[in-house]
Amino acid sequence: MSNPQGVVILDFGGQYTQLIARRVREAGVYSVVLPYTASVEDVLAHEPKGLILSGGPAGVLDEDAPLCGRQIFELGIPVLGICYGMQLMAHVLGGLVARAPQREYGPIPVSMLQREKGLLKGMDAVSPCWMSHTWQVRELPEGFSAIASTQACPVAAMEDESRGLYGVQFHPEVTHTREGRVLLENFLKEVCTLTADWNMEAYADMAIRQIKEQVGEKGTVLLGLSGGVDSAVAAALIYRAIGDRLTCVFVDHGFMRKGEGDQVVEVFSNTFPVRLVNVDASDRFFSDLKGVVDPEAKRKIIGRDFVEVFKEEAAKLGKLDHFAQGTIYPDVIESGAVKGSAVIKSHHNVGGLPAELGFTSLVEPLSMLFKDEVRKLGLTLGLPQTLVMRQPFPGPGLAIRTLGELTREKVEIVRETDAILREEIAAAGLAGKISQYFTVLTNARSVGVMGDERTYAYAVAIRAVLTDDFMTADVAQLPYELLGKIAGRMVGEVSGVNRVLYDVTTKPPASIEWE
Ligand code: XMP
Repeated sequence: MSNPQGVVILDFGGQYTQLIARRVREAGVYSVVLPYTASVEDVLAHEPKGLILSGGPAGVLDEDAPLCGRQIFELGIPVLGICYGMQLMAHVLGGLVARAPQREYGPIPVSMLQREKGLLKGMDAVSPCWMSHTWQVRELPEGFSAIASTQACPVAAMEDESRGLYGVQFHPEVTHTREGRVLLENFLKEVCTLTADWNMEAYADMAIRQIKEQVGEKGTVLLGLSGGVDSAVAAALIYRAIGDRLTCVFVDHGFMRKGEGDQVVEVFSNTFPVRLVNVDASDRFFSDLKGVVDPEAKRKIIGRDFVEVFKEEAAKLGKLDHFAQGTIYPDVIESGAVKGSAVIKSHHNVGGLPAELGFTSLVEPLSMLFKDEVRKLGLTLGLPQTLVMRQPFPGPGLAIRTLGELTREKVEIVRETDAILREEIAAAGLAGKISQYFTVLTNARSVGVMGDERTYAYAVAIRAVLTDDFMTADVAQLPYELLGKIAGRMVGEVSGVNRVLYDVTTKPPASIEWE
């Protein structure tokens, strides 16, 4: 099968490279991200109709700046350079790049000078664009003209229409650039003459093809189902690719939500009749977590126990060749696996496993997708709406929502109050409107009175947030009436609870989970 028509994105280490890929997918166009070190032959092997050079943290004049040769601009294929990518284009083609007299950061009004055709076609005369740069193009290379500017940056965008070469100093891929989508669509459709024929079905077909190639004709795969959306979608995709050569292991660590384990088992025995091993390992997890209160220590123990349970189950199953995970792109960033990003919390599903388990390779078919794209893919693959549209759930589960030492009784309080919260939010018609909502056992006990009796019981907190990307979040403003009803049910129906609190902190400074 020939390559789908699309663009190659060359990655110069920018934090937004995958976001560029995502925006290109949203425009209905196929893209592939290659490292900047890719040879011209590698690039041409993808038969691109356009090239995009990403941003990056370096300056083109730095000693070990990531550079590319002139040849990339002489292939007769249109090129769009973004931020560092534009400076690189100017530098390589004979322009002058220098430190900007004034650093621009944030949304800056940009004057669009050429709006009749090409890159900036149809954009507003002045449009807010996201800038983040210390260098700028001071002199244009021969044949180029400036097509946008700001007060501090005379070349905010440039073009050499005859050669199909374009550059923008700002970031069209971030939502703070109001008309960023228009610009990218102009490049893809007007300049590269691509049509919007790339969609989730096409993505699924390609991913299935890649899995087949990676696993080979006879290869077998072990996948850990976590109960969440991501591993379920990864399983469905791999099942499509290799059928019963996939074995799924579902480890119940004892920290699943109410009814969750049963749903996973049902979907994967009925919709996808895959070989499923269901392990109840809760005794081991509770025993290893006895006396542990530090959040990171809990996460580490849970991660380690997972690996051990997997090792044992894998040994029982006989030799399986590859190991699969439902890692998605934000997991990769938050765990610090991308150079330059900081470790905030250890996600137990990232890194380490295949080396320890002796597998030939790691299959991660979702590692370039964002959450909402994974959901779309899940629906495309025929997974039920109730599973695919459910809110995200962390790998360590209710363990990181039960503060202090973990006991079965305390986790049960979280499970039951969480079930009430979910039920009431669904009944109020708010389920699809809140990004994530759950309860936390605060580990604080307080005095109360119930039926003339003194109580001394736990305070449960409700967390409900609105977010697109889970990197930042706002507090969801649940109606007071609903909160009152929920609090009444929790205190009345769940023993061990006599007080309910509402967490009104945004992220940052708080994180979404409490641990
Ligand atoms: P935080 O608490 O970091 O959460 O603001 C951001 C999002 O990530 C989820 N989360 C996890 N997901 N494994 C996961 O798969 C984990 O270890 C993990 N920790 C947090 C969290 O539920 C929220 O959606």
